[in-house]
Amino acid sequence: MEILGKTTKHSRAIEKRIEELIQEMTVAEKIGQLSLVNSIYGKITKPLRQTIAEGKIGGILNEVDVNVVNELQQTAVEESRLGIPLLVGRDVIHGFKTIFPIPLGLASTWNPEIPERCGRISASEASATGINWTFAPMIDISRDPRWGRIAESFGEDPYLTGVLAKAIVYGFQGDDLSSPGCIAACAKHFAGYGACESGKDYNTANIPENELRNVYLPPFKAAFDAGAASVMTSFSDLDGIPATANEFLLKQILRQEWQFDGFVVSDWEAISQLSVHGLTASDKDSACEAANAGVDMEMVSRTYADHLADLLIEGKISQDRIDTMVSNILRAKFKLGLFDRPYTETSSVNTDKSHEYLEAARCAAVQSCVLLENKHNILPLSKDKLSSIAVIGPLADDRYEQLGTWIFDGDIELSQTPLQAIKAFMKKSAEVNYCRAMATTRSRSREDFGEAVETVRKSDVVILFLGEESILSGEAHSRADISLPGIQNELIEEIAALGKPIVLVIMAGRPLLLEKARKNVDAILYAWHPGTMAGPAIAELLFGIASPSGKLPVTFPRAVGQIPIYYNHKNTGRPATAGSVTNIDDIEAGAPQHSSGDTSFHLDIDNSPLYPFGYGLSYSEFKYSNLRLDHDKIKLGESIRIEVELTNTGECEAEEVTQLYVRDLVGSVTRPVRELKGFKKLRLRPGETASITFELSTDDLAFYGRNNKLVTEAGRFHLWIGGCSDTDLRAEFEIIES
Ligand code: BGC
Repeated sequence: MEILGKTTKHSRAIEKRIEELIQEMTVAEKIGQLSLVNSIYGKITKPLRQTIAEGKIGGILNEVDVNVVNELQQTAVEESRLGIPLLVGRDVIHGFKTIFPIPLGLASTWNPEIPERCGRISASEASATGINWTFAPMIDISRDPRWGRIAESFGEDPYLTGVLAKAIVYGFQGDDLSSPGCIAACAKHFAGYGACESGKDYNTANIPENELRNVYLPPFKAAFDAGAASVMTSFSDLDGIPATANEFLLKQILRQEWQFDGFVVSDWEAISQLSVHGLTASDKDSACEAANAGVDMEMVSRTYADHLADLLIEGKISQDRIDTMVSNILRAKFKLGLFDRPYTETSSVNTDKSHEYLEAARCAAVQSCVLLENKHNILPLSKDKLSSIAVIGPLADDRYEQLGTWIFDGDIELSQTPLQAIKAFMKKSAEVNYCRAMATTRSRSREDFGEAVETVRKSDVVILFLGEESILSGEAHSRADISLPGIQNELIEEIAALGKPIVLVIMAGRPLLLEKARKNVDAILYAWHPGTMAGPAIAELLFGIASPSGKLPVTFPRAVGQIPIYYNHKNTGRPATAGSVTNIDDIEAGAPQHSSGDTSFHLDIDNSPLYPFGYGLSYSEFKYSNLRLDHDKIKLGESIRIEVELTNTGECEAEEVTQLYVRDLVGSVTRPVRELKGFKKLRLRPGETASITFELSTDDLAFYGRNNKLVTEAGRFHLWIGGCSDTDLRAEFEIIES
């Protein structure tokens, strides 16, 4: 993967053109470039055309009609004085027409090729309508499943998120942003949005600087190293300063420390909302704060358009600052090649590719499903042994709900549902008996339970499709209770009472509480929202055409009270031990105060998560052995080579994700109990053994230490390899001072 160069001849030529253009621009034209305006879907109003012709708009968002986009570009290029083309932005999050799994599902593949392909195909479909900029990837570290936007994230881990961020940025942007079919990426939301208190969207985030640097920022650094052209500020405030006016984030970290040369866009009206936060008293102050802090472009609100000129006259913002903001935006336009090719061929939608795109979406969906339970190996189901199947639930045959959040342009007609796919797979060899049972996942009516029970009675096996509709996750859709909504658990109990084998397939935008459900079912396949090809992908997995290979990118709690629960937590001074057990019922009445167990645990729930990060079953079994390191001591600046043997000891060909974790035993700041440092996904035939190697340099072990400086410290490390974050195959090594 080639990272876009910053000091090439080409970029020097771009800088020269920017300088020349800036010299020609009036203040009004400069301020115009900073303005990102929402379109009125498919309509070109007179004022919009006029403002563009006056050179007072830098970009539009949410226009997807190629003719309209071309007309707007034509106004910008041919009617405005300097002919500067427009940025055309859209939330292309996990697909455009062809919908891939939600990002949390993409992350469950642990396969960077999949987000890369998703990015490439989405970019190709979106660019055919004139879109040249996507507001993705969303790379907020998400440790709270109550937060609806966890669906849009790659989960809880900085390393995994960073690897996938790089891949999808490359998918969107390619080697050269100006190539046909490439669009500019926007890493969002900078920064700390995922730490919103109580998982409530837009809520305050308080993240100590050390945690910010070690956990929340690394994925952004990875996205910028991959050349991400832009970044969006977060709605949230961070340690008292909203991200949209946060100089520490936008100037010190982004520009000074990381030398980011792209542009910063605010989130939707986030600049005008600075006064709602209580940081400013007026729109004018908000414009002043945001511009001076480093926000280059304003999304939708108009504080820059209305006030920057006055702020300039009053000396509250400098000419130099405004020129820098404009340059950052122009740079992206030049890199996109918009000055040379502002228009989109109206015939550029490549219909020949639709089969290939659906195949890619199917493949992504297959790899994104995580098998959580498989009692007595009930899965895969055998086509030959079944004469009837009950397919039950509100998500079995819903072409819209399987797509997930943020699918504005998704083509619902392309969706293939599980019911359709199961019927197609069984052909005439078994009866497929379907009952929706609940109008929605939130339904509280038992009206159709009777029919569901009858449907199950006449079938050999039950496949239940439950979970959450798309609208229950995503922006502004946080939940305080993350159990299965409505009376789904009652439906499960009612069906379980019939004693038939039950396979539960969950579609959802977040980890749900499954403690109750799992007691009543034989298998759980967690499919997230799998997208257009949900049906064929799930059918393939259920019937063993493919083995599940997804692994969790986020920890599943047993109860809401455990949140936040994540694998890379700190040890504390009194970590839980084997003796730290649930004992609320054993405490005698009138017991005197005592420090029960003296350790960090809840009295009323097992200390472990329901399913840990990195977990996921397969139809095969894998054994790890012969873990060896080429050195047990390395000097600063050196690398260690780690080797392990992986054997497929089961009976079918399957893929396994080998995960490498380390623990830095002593640090100048406390270190997590485990940290993911590498992973590899490999397909093995039954009986096959592969040797897997990782190379870990001391730089890979660097972290922000005391005083928040990046350091690699000498000392001892534990290292684990396995198929889950709770693996116990361990080795040790030491970094010694040179
Ligand atoms: C969201 C962003 C999104 C923007 C534009 C905002 O409400 O927070 O993630 O890109 O809208 O649609």
